[in-house]
Amino acid sequence: MNKNNIEIPNHVAIIMDGNGRWATKRGLKRSEGHLAGSKTLEKTGVHILKKGVKVLSVFAFSTENFKRSSEEVDYLMNLFIDMFTKKVKEFKKNKIKIVFSGRKFPLRDDVLSAMYKIEQETKDNTNGILNICLNYGGQEELIDASCKIAEDYKKGKLDLSTLTKESFAQYLYNDLPPIDLLIRTSGECRVSNFMLYQMAYSEMVFTNTYFPDFDEKEFDTVLDEYQNRNRRFGGN
Ligand code: IPE
Ligand code: IPE
Ligand code: MG
Repeated sequence: MNKNNIEIPNHVAIIMDGNGRWATKRGLKRSEGHLAGSKTLEKTGVHILKKGVKVLSVFAFSTENFKRSSEEVDYLMNLFIDMFTKKVKEFKKNKIKIVFSGRKFPLRDDVLSAMYKIEQETKDNTNGILNICLNYGGQEELIDASCKIAEDYKKGKLDLSTLTKESFAQYLYNDLPPIDLLIRTSGECRVSNFMLYQMAYSEMVFTNTYFPDFDEKEFDTVLDEYQNRNRRFGGN
């Protein structure tokens, strides 16, 4: 097969969807789907970064997910604490730096301190970045960036005529490269307020697999599809 683009994508992003349906299909509670999804993240995530991908962004909890029952939200928050304090061992072993994107409010203090701790523990790691989007909204990120820009302008720290796509990115939650490959599992074909600025020119792959079943082999198939795409960026 003729490969147009044999490169490994610099930045891969995953909308990890379908945990609930994965569990329901098996007669399990939705929470068991989230637990299974957290295990998949560690296994498949490490595989992706080992392939040479520099940044892996994952959608763990959206600003809109607070609409869910308090039982489900509480379960997820406790699962995040558990992951950041006891798990993510493989990411640490492989010297991956963990960062977070999203708003702090209204996250619980115990969740925020677990996030802070893992960020501190991994801040000097240089083998890749895992960007966990938690209480994250793409529109919210753009609003927050606009407010920071207005503050800098007001203080005389920013000349608006110098703003570029790259310098604007410095005002986002994390200054990350553009997303090359965006994957959404579970068959839904929408972006659900995920990284709107960063996905401007990303290649998108929608797969029917529920996230807990998204394994290394399936990522390699998606990578193959990516490498057969012809990225034109508006050129010809
Ligand atoms: C994704 O799985 C995880 C989160 C949104 C936290 P879902 O919980 O959305 O699973 P489905 O879409 O209901 O199957
Ligand atoms: C998007 O999934 C958010 C995460 C994967 C964390 P949702 O399940 O919340 O999205 P919608 O509601 O189907 O658009
Ligand atoms: Mg969903």
